[in-house]
Amino acid sequence: MKVQFTETALRDANQSLIATRLPYERFEGILETMNKAGYYSLECWGGATFDSCLRYLNEDPWERLRKIRAKCPDTKLQMLLRGQNLLGYKHYPDDVVRMFVKKSIENGIDIIRIFDALNDVRNIEVAVDETIKNGAIASGAISYTKSPIHNLDAYVKLAKDMENMGCQSICIKDMAGIMGPQEAFDTVKALKESVKVPIILHTHSTTGLGMLTLQKAVEAGCDIIDTAISSFSGGTSQAPTETMAYALMQEGYEVDLDMAVLKEINDFFKPIKAEFLKSGQLNPVVLSTDTDALNYQVPGGMLSNLVAQLTAQNKMDKFPEVLAETPRVRKDLGYPPLVTPMSQMVGVQATANVLAGERYKNISKEVKAYIRGEYGRAPGEIDKDLQKKVLGDDEPITCRFADTLEPGFEKAKAEIGDKAQSDEDVLSYIAFPTQAEAFFDKRDEKKRNTFTYAIQKID
Ligand code: CO
Repeated sequence: MKVQFTETALRDANQSLIATRLPYERFEGILETMNKAGYYSLECWGGATFDSCLRYLNEDPWERLRKIRAKCPDTKLQMLLRGQNLLGYKHYPDDVVRMFVKKSIENGIDIIRIFDALNDVRNIEVAVDETIKNGAIASGAISYTKSPIHNLDAYVKLAKDMENMGCQSICIKDMAGIMGPQEAFDTVKALKESVKVPIILHTHSTTGLGMLTLQKAVEAGCDIIDTAISSFSGGTSQAPTETMAYALMQEGYEVDLDMAVLKEINDFFKPIKAEFLKSGQLNPVVLSTDTDALNYQVPGGMLSNLVAQLTAQNKMDKFPEVLAETPRVRKDLGYPPLVTPMSQMVGVQATANVLAGERYKNISKEVKAYIRGEYGRAPGEIDKDLQKKVLGDDEPITCRFADTLEPGFEKAKAEIGDKAQSDEDVLSYIAFPTQAEAFFDKRDEKKRNTFTYAIQKID
């Protein structure tokens, strides 16, 4: 049996370990080698890369993608897309979603992994449709979580819905690294029995389960696994590529990776890791194993947010109460998966409930919007009293929220005017208005300087 690998060094590992601060120039030198490694795909765009390019690295994200494409002509390039939310947390109108998908593919993307935080398939429909229309691979991703209503049947139904929608593969996305080996085995097995398309497992090594979980997933027939080159693996990142390849080959699985090339890639990333450790941008804590998420059944990132919130307010003594309140709030909200932004919304509300000494005395505007149905359909039932408290006699929205939005692309194009030099620029502006505009201004400044310099030189 064959197992394929998606390398995450440039996207998820970069995002999980060093907050996506790796500039293009730092990895440009290894791209041609990565192109020869034998990966199923290279996850290199989407997620936080886009925001980080504009906000911190003064890079045009579209240009980064085109450059990677030029250096990696033989490997499929993959991005992560949050369905109707694109790369952020608000819903965009359909014309914007379609244009974003179309331009991503035009600029070099081959595979778009599309998910919704609530697993509301209506929120991935348009992106999936546009991906297929443009000849790329639409991979439907299930946000994996645990709750009384998230069982095998629910995941099988989701996978079937995604396959019927046209998704060419299904990814189980365990963003918190809480999926155990047996759960992986059972889930993959159930999906393999009910859908025909390849199954992918994405997990993190946060709780130390990563490698075991991938191993059992492969035993159950998982076709593709997400891993990171070893120097960028472990902790909040993915399991190491070389280690998984070595172990699986020993077991007799067919693995297309070239171990010598992987060594070259790892040797390239080692000094980069050392440099980030030295500067403090890579905190050794994120590289170690943290099993707290297993005890509390909430993602590690969410726990550290809760600690930070309470410490800031000098209320760490309330931590046990907040920890106990968190699953209650989640239940009241119909068990949303604890992925951004739901993890923050649940955490902030649980903290507010405890600190106010009264549940739902203050309700955040995000939780209100969620209860109104603006994020999509809650996985389970929202507590009736809470719903009544927020909505009064109003009904929640039952349609797809994007159906309530006016088209947005032309409007944004007019708004940003000459500062945008392409439709790609307009999309950057729509996704991150402030950061994109600041980036355009700096770019113009640079151009003016080059121009002046050119004239001086002629003189
Ligand atoms: Co991830």
